[in-house]
Amino acid sequence: MNLGVFTWLFLLLLCLLTPATSRREKRNVLFIIADDLRASLGCYDDALAKSPNIDQLASRSQVFLNAYAQQAVCAPSRTSMLTSRRPDTTRLYDFNSYWRVHSGNYTTLPQHFKSKGYYTMSVGKVFHPGIASNHTDDYPYSWSIPAYHPSSFRFEKQKMCKGDDGQLHANLLCAVNVTEQPGGTLPDLESTDEAVRLLKSRVGDGAFFLAVGFHKPHIPFRIPQEYLSLYPLDKMTLAPDPDVPELLPPVAYNPWTDVRQREDVQKLNVSFPYGPIPKDFQLRIRQHYYAAVSYMDAQVGRLLSTLDALGLTDSTMVVFTSDHGWSLGEHGEWAKYSNFDVATRVPLIMFVPGVTAAYSRAGGPTFPFIDVFSQPEHSFTNAKVIRNTVELVDVFPTVSYMAGLPAPEHCPDVSLQVELCTEGRNLVHTFQHKERGKNAELMAFSQYPRPADTPQNNSDLPDLQDIKVMGYSLRNWDYRYTLWLGFNPRSFQVNVSDVHGGELYMLADDPGQDKNIYSDLDHSIVMKKMDALPHNASVWTRMRLQLYYHTAGLKRNAGTA
Ligand SMILES: *[C@@H]1O[C@H](CO)[C@@H](O)[C@H](O)[C@H]1NC(C)=O
Ligand SMILES: *[C@@H]1O[C@H](CO)[C@@H](O)[C@H](O)[C@H]1NC(C)=O
Ligand SMILES: *[C@@H]1O[C@H](CO)[C@@H](O)[C@H](O)[C@H]1NC(C)=O
Ligand SMILES: *[C@@H]1O[C@H](CO)[C@@H](O)[C@H](O)[C@H]1NC(C)=O
Ligand SMILES: *[C@@H]1O[C@H](CO)[C@@H](O)[C@H](O)[C@H]1NC(C)=O
Ligand SMILES: *[C@@H]1O[C@H](CO)[C@@H](O)[C@H](O)[C@H]1NC(C)=O
Ligand SMILES: *[C@@H]1O[C@H](CO)[C@@H](O)[C@H](O)[C@H]1NC(C)=O
Repeated sequence: MNLGVFTWLFLLLLCLLTPATSRREKRNVLFIIADDLRASLGCYDDALAKSPNIDQLASRSQVFLNAYAQQAVCAPSRTSMLTSRRPDTTRLYDFNSYWRVHSGNYTTLPQHFKSKGYYTMSVGKVFHPGIASNHTDDYPYSWSIPAYHPSSFRFEKQKMCKGDDGQLHANLLCAVNVTEQPGGTLPDLESTDEAVRLLKSRVGDGAFFLAVGFHKPHIPFRIPQEYLSLYPLDKMTLAPDPDVPELLPPVAYNPWTDVRQREDVQKLNVSFPYGPIPKDFQLRIRQHYYAAVSYMDAQVGRLLSTLDALGLTDSTMVVFTSDHGWSLGEHGEWAKYSNFDVATRVPLIMFVPGVTAAYSRAGGPTFPFIDVFSQPEHSFTNAKVIRNTVELVDVFPTVSYMAGLPAPEHCPDVSLQVELCTEGRNLVHTFQHKERGKNAELMAFSQYPRPADTPQNNSDLPDLQDIKVMGYSLRNWDYRYTLWLGFNPRSFQVNVSDVHGGELYMLADDPGQDKNIYSDLDHSIVMKKMDALPHNASVWTRMRLQLYYHTAGLKRNAGTA
């Protein structure tokens, strides 16, 4: 027996089996972003959610179970993700400025691909439309052709929903008969049609980056009515923690004004700011949210089965994510606009052909369309999960690298003048290695602005000039730690001595973040240690250290108790 031959054969086999992360072939990118989608998906262990097409994608993908947005509202989160800069660097906390003239001329993710010869296309809501992307979705910088928007979106906020009185209203709950809608369609149906058309047009025509932004499950829940039947009301439950927690600092609470403004909610005379919404209506909101998720899932299925049909699956990386989450009654809150996990945590799924899944054999389908009505039961297992904390600012470097482009360098401390850099991490190592267990050093940073210490009618989304307090929030495996600090919207300075509220949740005992133990902490010792820091240390550096000292104290006390 010649051992050498075996060794050689073994090495050859290893080469063939080794994930192709180092081979760096150039891949197309299909980048799918949902609007206001929390991790209410089958592949995130939500037993209620019916999301077979996204679950099937996850069964061939790497699934990041703890991914967080940098600010839980659309424009700031999208601008942050697509530039890979945190809100304190884009200086966009509302909807009212365009980063290229307001903060810095930052290169975006699609712009990076465009500069490397990709044909880049935007369908639906990718950048936040309007001022935040200069009324052009950042065309021509980011896109090779002008962005597409579904024409039926102009009806979205109008009186389109048949109420109990048989009249049309601008309701929150808006399940419709699609044939009776203007043009017989809805925005996400139109966007999917256009994305399918664009995919067909790109076959054999060079590398592409196609971003598709779905409008659902964003409110109003204007969705095809048949999806409600997937979620019978008698199967729906309230949030496990539907009351406003006693120890929640008022500055942390978001009064969900956008939900209140819909006609059907106005009729309920819900008291401001804390409500509550009547329980039967809470159940219906939850039902409609889940139905909107299943409707959006079907559009994802149409896109992915098109990739298969066109023979593009083996050359296209697929990313699926959302801009932030949505409270469904947890802590007595609805909508986004907060620092809690329900508002900041997002799905993040990456399919990389040849890396997260084998190449398809003999052209067999990888993503056959799954009709949730004819196949209500399905079972998939995620190909690989990552439990450690990641952030949406990581998406830009990671997608660039995994698609075969250079990832941007990490930004210097002050990066207003630097066009291309990242404040996130390139997560390539998570594709190459098995996760070794928890790393409490890894943290997600989110923030949220407020106009006052108590809930006001503009607390959900204050304009920049009205911001008085900024809630900085750290999330690692074990804790969520939030400080609400004085903030000057003209100088963008944070006053770390001006604490308007604090929150600390120990997630092992309190995953829903209802038991705030901040007031139990010994602040005097920690503050003394903070005095030793250089005066210009960033707010995140300070908070990391505070979290470290506070929780070391907690562990010591637990040990001696
Ligand atoms: C911003 O960057 C783009 C792309 O690099 C460039 O074309 C444009 O001139 C820059 N604008 C400013 C104001 O520097
Ligand atoms: C924003 O749009 C306006 C109007 O179309 C245009 O004049 C301006 O140059 C754009 N800003 C940038 C930075 O391209
Ligand atoms: C939807 O509307 C069309 C046109 O009015 C009607 O023919 C159809 O029966 C309706 N479908 C349902 C399920 O109500
Ligand atoms: C809400 O308030 C209006 C005006 O005060 C009243 O007419 C209506 O009956 C109230 N509705 C409910 C559901 O309490
Ligand atoms: C918000 O409240 C202020 C004062 O409390 C009031 O002047 C303003 O009209 C309110 N705005 C809305 C949109 O309700
Ligand atoms: C920061 O806040 C502290 C406490 O409220 C206050 O004494 C101090 O003047 C503030 N500093 C600045 C620069 O505003
Ligand atoms: C903080 O100050 C030190 C020395 O004073 C300086 O070297 C460093 O660049 C400063 N850092 C920031 C973020 O301004």
